Amino acid sequence: MTENSVHTDGQDTASARASGQSATESFRKKQHAGLQVSQERVSALAGDALAAIHDVIRKHEMTYEEYDALKAWLIQVGEDGEWPLFLDVWVEHVVEDVNTSHREGSKGSIEGPYYVPDAPEQGARGTIPMREDEPGTPLHWTGQVTSTDGSPLGGAKVELWHADADGFYSQFAPDIPEWNLRGTFTSDEEGRFEIDTVEPAPYQIPTDGACGKLIAAAGWHAWRPAHLHVKVSAPGHELLTAQLYFPGDPHNEDDIASAVKPELMLDPQDTGDGKRTMDYSFVLDPVSDETPAATTVA
Ligand code: DHB
Ligand code: FE
Repeated sequence: MTENSVHTDGQDTASARASGQSATESFRKKQHAGLQVSQERVSALAGDALAAIHDVIRKHEMTYEEYDALKAWLIQVGEDGEWPLFLDVWVEHVVEDVNTSHREGSKGSIEGPYYVPDAPEQGARGTIPMREDEPGTPLHWTGQVTSTDGSPLGGAKVELWHADADGFYSQFAPDIPEWNLRGTFTSDEEGRFEIDTVEPAPYQIPTDGACGKLIAAAGWHAWRPAHLHVKVSAPGHELLTAQLYFPGDPHNEDDIASAVKPELMLDPQDTGDGKRTMDYSFVLDPVSDETPAATTVA
């Protein structure tokens, strides 16, 4: 297992702050039209969230020392730009769950902090942008995008992004080409696609910032299992955001982001020449009257 050393070896002590700030910037860019939440919903959600915190304080009889430690830590989360990381690791999986539980098609998972839109187009069959000497086991992926009634979805977009064999994401870690291991594929008229990439490594969330401090103080670990991120979209269908996992990864059972589901497990086969090949397909739900607005394609 590879340590993603830029986060842990102290040579680049600004790295948690750097990747936290990039994740914060990236989130700001995504919020194009501004976010509308009604007064009624703000009052219900904020009111219940505060009541839940009050319950925890009473249950554990929080001391003033603990209250001040919490305050200092919350200030540091902001200073490190780690709110996107914190929320995506410890909160997003429940939001994902409640917003997709009505679906009949493929299961999804959290987006995480490292999605970037408009990755280069590769057609229906192609190799994701990568360095000439990109480390990692080559992975050949075939799949098809269909609707829940079984009809193939030609022209569906499969956006793929993932960490490299050292656990780093392009645009969020230094010295990696801009679109490395980020690509957009478009299914053919039968809904089929074929992608060549390399297997990512398990990923450790930055340990030298506020989130790492919480993990250390609580005696937890910082690992996510190796994963591929995808967004699959087609006109008239709900956007599917998912992550795909590799069998045998020690962190499939204790993912810090609680984002693993059995339906998202891949089945790569050795081809005998140091490569692996796998088939994994997607089923998209047609948009209906009950579809939550945020899960449709803009
Ligand atoms: C984080 C990183 C990921 O790659 C991911 O999928 C989810 C969360 C994080 O560092 O917060
Ligand atoms: Fe990730």
